[in-house]
Amino acid sequence: MPVARELFISPSILSADFTRLAEAVALVEDAGADLVHVDVMDGHFVPNLTIGPPVVRALKRVARRPLDVHLMVSDPDRTAQWYVDAGADIVTVHIEASPHVHRTLDAIRAGGAMAGISLNPGTPAASLTEVLACVDLVLVMSVNPGFGGQSFIEASLAKIAEIAELCRSLGVSPRVEVDGGIDAHTAPRVVAAGADTLVAGNAIFGASDPAAALRQLRTCAEPHLV
Ligand code: DX5
Ligand code: ZN
Repeated sequence: MPVARELFISPSILSADFTRLAEAVALVEDAGADLVHVDVMDGHFVPNLTIGPPVVRALKRVARRPLDVHLMVSDPDRTAQWYVDAGADIVTVHIEASPHVHRTLDAIRAGGAMAGISLNPGTPAASLTEVLACVDLVLVMSVNPGFGGQSFIEASLAKIAEIAELCRSLGVSPRVEVDGGIDAHTAPRVVAAGADTLVAGNAIFGASDPAAALRQLRTCAEPHLV
């Protein structure tokens, strides 16, 4: 029986007050966040535009936990390196956006960061088969990316289980992170399906007490780790 992995919580600062990012990061770190999730959107791959390397570089100066940078951009093969250079600890690219994904994942690792691969709700789990051996993390989108506060797509549960099984069959063990609509109701279920890392934006920063909401997510999900 394999030993259960530790549950990681990665609050998404997309739902924080952008005029007070340093305070938001400190707040979730003090509440026990394991990672800080940073959503980079280019207005092209997704219909929203957020932040770029200068903000990642600024966050790196204040963050005490690793920066978990999620690139929702059309051309990650060209731009992933910008985020490695800005101090990202994990750089995740979308498989839908990267024609030369092995080269990009290798370059992220060669730059000293961990490499993640993400897939949209409409992309099948099997599309990851050829890259699972080259990544430290798989990021399963459980909403169509672009915005915080959307509803969890139920079909994500089966996909998480399928990815966990695919990893076992290939003998690899990347972190399995889930992003979109994660709250106290969905967190236990995605963890039971095989996830070990939870992104949460609205459920944390939209709560009246974000620190308590983060702790509650951990308390309700941790017993379900497989
Ligand atoms: C959505 C982003 C998410 C987003 C999650 O495209 O990738 O990280 O911030 O927000 P919630 O947890 O509110 O669904
Ligand atoms: Zn994200």
